[in-house]
Amino acid sequence: MITFGFDKSWRRQAAENLKLGNVLDLGSGTGASYYDLKKYNVVALDPDEAMLSLNKFEKKVVGRSENLPFDDDYFDNILCCFVLRNVENIDNTFNEVRRVLKKDGKFILLDMSRPRNNVLKQFHKIGTYIVLHLIGLVTLNLKEYRFLHFSLDKLPPPEDFLIDINLEQKILKRMGIFGFVYLGVFEKKS
Ligand SMILES: C[S@@+](CC[C@H](N)C(=O)[O-])C[C@H]1O[C@@H](n2cnc3c(N)ncnc32)[C@H](O)[C@@H]1O
Repeated sequence: MITFGFDKSWRRQAAENLKLGNVLDLGSGTGASYYDLKKYNVVALDPDEAMLSLNKFEKKVVGRSENLPFDDDYFDNILCCFVLRNVENIDNTFNEVRRVLKKDGKFILLDMSRPRNNVLKQFHKIGTYIVLHLIGLVTLNLKEYRFLHFSLDKLPPPEDFLIDINLEQKILKRMGIFGFVYLGVFEKKS
């Protein structure tokens, strides 16, 4: 609701970058990418069993990005939508992504951040503070919506921190209003 349904089109755009082969839906949650991944052999991983119980993918694994329960060089693709702000250890997550990806495998990362432009960033911060606190109060979920607001500032801008993850960057683009959503496509080259 918060994205006015645009998250579906962002996920679809992310999935359009997958190559043939298997896919790890990292932080799959309730399986929002299910329809975009119908033609793929998918493993859905999430630490939250309750979320996974609502997830329609056939192969479901309880686990965390920091310690993936898969062999080295196992996946052709890893798709990670709206998860990175939630993980506890980003470095371990990227190490694990590199380990379980095959050579030339794709890592596709979709997440929210803040607009690049400083004025728009401040405007966006005030906007999400007001809107997300209001929604939290109305839905009696203040803690979760406060987390969402503050999580948008947890990581540096994607252009800054995604240059140094030992994966070859193929695409990094901004989407959504003021460009607060980003899509990154990376390949494992060694
Ligand atoms: C906002 S939901 C996104 C779910 C889904 N990918 C989507 O596109 O809607 C974030 C998900 O990340 C999961 N998550 C949190 N920490 C994680 C971790 N360390 N490793 C994997 N998933 C994690 C949460 O349980 C939750 O299901």
